[in-house]
Amino acid sequence: MVDAKAEADLIFRHKLGLSPAERLQFGRGEVADGAAAGIEEVLEQRAGGLPLAYCTGRAEFCGHSFVVNPDVLIPRPETELLVERGAQWLEDQLLRRFNRDKVLADGQPSLLDLGCGSGAIGISLALRFPTLRVVLADVSEPALAVAEENARRLGVLERCQFRSGDWFAWARRRERFELILCNPPYVTRRDDPRLAASVREHEPSIALFLDEEPEEFFFRLARKAVSHLGSGGLFAVEVGYDTAWPARCAFDRVHSLQRGKGIHDFSGIERVIWGIRK
Ligand SMILES: C[S@@+](CC[C@H](N)C(=O)[O-])C[C@H]1O[C@@H](n2cnc3c(N)ncnc32)[C@H](O)[C@@H]1O
Repeated sequence: MVDAKAEADLIFRHKLGLSPAERLQFGRGEVADGAAAGIEEVLEQRAGGLPLAYCTGRAEFCGHSFVVNPDVLIPRPETELLVERGAQWLEDQLLRRFNRDKVLADGQPSLLDLGCGSGAIGISLALRFPTLRVVLADVSEPALAVAEENARRLGVLERCQFRSGDWFAWARRRERFELILCNPPYVTRRDDPRLAASVREHEPSIALFLDEEPEEFFFRLARKAVSHLGSGGLFAVEVGYDTAWPARCAFDRVHSLQRGKGIHDFSGIERVIWGIRK
């Protein structure tokens, strides 16, 4: 349920650039006419259905504050499961198998955040693994600009590269990653009516809708991903409630990929399908 008072207060604080403590001190203080008009405009946008994160220009993800605007999907809590899978793989597989210090000192491993949007996935992992190199790729140039701004604001820009193009179109033939994580658009047009109006009307449709047959889409993506993964590397994707099955079937058709047990969210929906490059 929407807490209108809390949201209005957040918008107020955001528009005046006040920290929570400054807001408390401000109390019922006076606001200049120009600022008041700006606040009212945003409140009206919110009342008209604009998601709160677009009103404030910020979204929390993995404990960090990301800049967002209507060019990028607002990062969702369930996507943290994909980040966790990546983090677990980095800790359990790579860092244990090799010498952790050497791996970190060499500036390895490298992660591809495919369809990066705001960069939430790749940047969160870069913040967690201090020498991880991250390639952030998206077909949307405006989204890449937001990802770059987030990488700069969160202090990981020097370890990030940005690539523009359709899925792997930008990749050199021999380019390899240890880890490829992807939260692709996976809402099928059939499911469009189930989407909340605020999502359908305000979030970028290129980030939401899958216009291909899901199994073929995931098959194409997985086949291409393994050709850019080192041996033992992880490929993991986020899926929706009706795309887990086609994604699983697609992974199983890629013979060089060993699929693992899917990861479910708290409501029991399978959210992450993953496999290891044989
Ligand atoms: C569901 S959003 C995920 C955004 C972000 N990774 C996240 O988890 O919040 C899907 C992303 O895939 C990108 N995308 C859509 N079609 C693409 C394509 N053909 N090639 C590369 N990226 C694409 C969109 O621009 C969008 O940023």
